[in-house]
Amino acid sequence: MRGEFCVGLSSFLSLASLLLLIFVHVGQINTSSVPHGVSLVKINVSQYGEALHVALIDDIDHLYTNNASAPLQAGAGLRQLYEFGLYSHCAYVNSSAGRCTNTSIQQEFRPYEALTSDMRANYTDITNFILSGTTFANSNSLGHSSRAAYWMLLLGTICAAIALFTGVAKYSFTFFISTGFSVLGSVFILIGASIWTTLIKRAETVNSIMIGNASNPVSVGIQVSSGPALFLMWASFASLFVSVVPYMISCCTYRG
Ligand SMILES: *[C@@H]1O[C@H](CO)[C@@H](O)[C@H](O)[C@H]1NC(C)=O
Ligand SMILES: *[C@@H]1O[C@H](CO)[C@@H](O)[C@H](O)[C@H]1NC(C)=O
Ligand SMILES: *[C@@H]1O[C@H](CO)[C@@H](O)[C@H](O)[C@H]1NC(C)=O
Ligand SMILES: *[C@@H]1O[C@H](CO)[C@@H](O)[C@H](O)[C@H]1NC(C)=O
Ligand SMILES: *[C@@H]1O[C@H](CO)[C@@H](O)[C@H](O)[C@H]1NC(C)=O
Ligand SMILES: *[C@@H]1O[C@H](CO)[C@@H](O)[C@H](O)[C@H]1NC(C)=O
Repeated sequence: MRGEFCVGLSSFLSLASLLLLIFVHVGQINTSSVPHGVSLVKINVSQYGEALHVALIDDIDHLYTNNASAPLQAGAGLRQLYEFGLYSHCAYVNSSAGRCTNTSIQQEFRPYEALTSDMRANYTDITNFILSGTTFANSNSLGHSSRAAYWMLLLGTICAAIALFTGVAKYSFTFFISTGFSVLGSVFILIGASIWTTLIKRAETVNSIMIGNASNPVSVGIQVSSGPALFLMWASFASLFVSVVPYMISCCTYRG
């Protein structure tokens, strides 16, 4: 009886972990409501134009576009909100209308390039002048770390799936395999989630950058924040990690 309960509990926990990871994977692959809701990082650039206006004492025309279907990364104009997922990023002109880049497993977290490639060339030049050299603008560093995090999460997802499916067969031997994969998967997800947490902290340094002159500093108007997918990653780690306990108990006590 206790064995059955343990198996059920650990299967439930590894299933929960796998489902949470699947949500993380689908984030921002298109603009429909579930992928739209699940982002790793959100960047609200709605105040950037106003900040440039104050800093440059110049009219800032045609920085943004209101055309939700205008192509991304083609200098067609900045959108209000950018959201990043593991395979692509999307840019929204308001809370619902937007467009995503093509999905790719080569996708890297390069927020500065995503923003500047949407601006017209004259604004890209101004932005480079203001932000080049900052942590936020160091796309190579952020991009390479995000690649590493991606592979960790992919391996974690595979391990969680193996743990779930081997845990269903009721033999001590398969419980042993399940336990092993749960432990391994937890470690991979832990590393992936930690890298993403650090990456977002590094990108958030742009939030406190001030422009303008000494007597009238203004915030640069680019607000980076973490999205729900970061929380899902940590929840998935916790779930898979806790599933190890009943797997171990089943492994040692269950005689199927
Ligand atoms: C972006 O930031 C502005 C100003 O802080 C806020 O009014 C707006 O609602 C934000 N947009 C989104 C989509 O969060
Ligand atoms: C940038 O170019 C656009 C059109 O190409 C123009 O409307 C805008 O005024 C220019 N902005 C600045 C600051 O030069
Ligand atoms: C919006 O962008 C799309 C794609 O570039 C274009 O076909 C369309 O005409 C644009 N709409 C407006 C109102 O400019
Ligand atoms: C968002 O923008 C699209 C296209 O510009 C428009 O059709 C839609 O009504 C807007 N939605 C909201 C909530 O403002
Ligand atoms: C995205 O995919 C479409 C259709 O497959 C293709 O035509 C387009 O060139 C791709 N865009 C980029 C930037 O790769
Ligand atoms: C600082 O900027 C404000 C507003 O843009 C302007 O009115 C003021 O003259 C500037 N001060 C100096 C010392 O440049």
